[in-house]
Amino acid sequence: MNIDDLYQAALTAKEKAYAPYSKFKVGAAIIDENGQVHSGCNVENAAYPLGCCAEQSAVSQMIINGGSTIQHILIVGKSGESCPPCGACRQIIFEHGNKNTQVHLESQNGSFDQKNIFDLLPEAFDHLQLDK
Ligand code: THU
Repeated sequence: MNIDDLYQAALTAKEKAYAPYSKFKVGAAIIDENGQVHSGCNVENAAYPLGCCAEQSAVSQMIINGGSTIQHILIVGKSGESCPPCGACRQIIFEHGNKNTQVHLESQNGSFDQKNIFDLLPEAFDHLQLDK
C-alpha cells in the first residue's frame, strides 16, 4: 500500500459521503499496523451536531475490522485543496495513533503534505491524565 492507493481509497469513500447540508464531502483512509486499509466518509444529520466526520468513521471501520493503530491517515475534501482535520478529529486520531502516526493532506500542486499527529495536536489530553 502506498500513498497513491491510500488516496484512491479516500476518494472512493468521499464519493459515498452523505453531506446534503454542507455539500462538503470528505473522505479519509487509514493504514493500520497490519497494513490493512480502512476508509470513511462524513455522514451528516438534520440535527447538525450529530454529524460524523470522515476521519471518525474511518477509525470506526478500523476498529470493527480488528485494527488498532493508525500508521497513516490521508484526508481529502475539495479536490486539490488541503482538508485539515478538525480539532475533534485530531483528538480521535491521537487516541488511535502512536508517535509515528502520519497525517497526509492534499496540497495545491497535486502532492501531499505529511504531518505528525503530535505536531497537529501539541500537549494533547491522553489516558495518562486519567491515571493521575
Ligand atoms: N468534516 C470532516 O468530515 N472532517 C473534518 O476534519 C472537517 C469537517 C466534515 C463535517 C461536515 O460534514 C463537513 O465536513 C463540513 O464541515
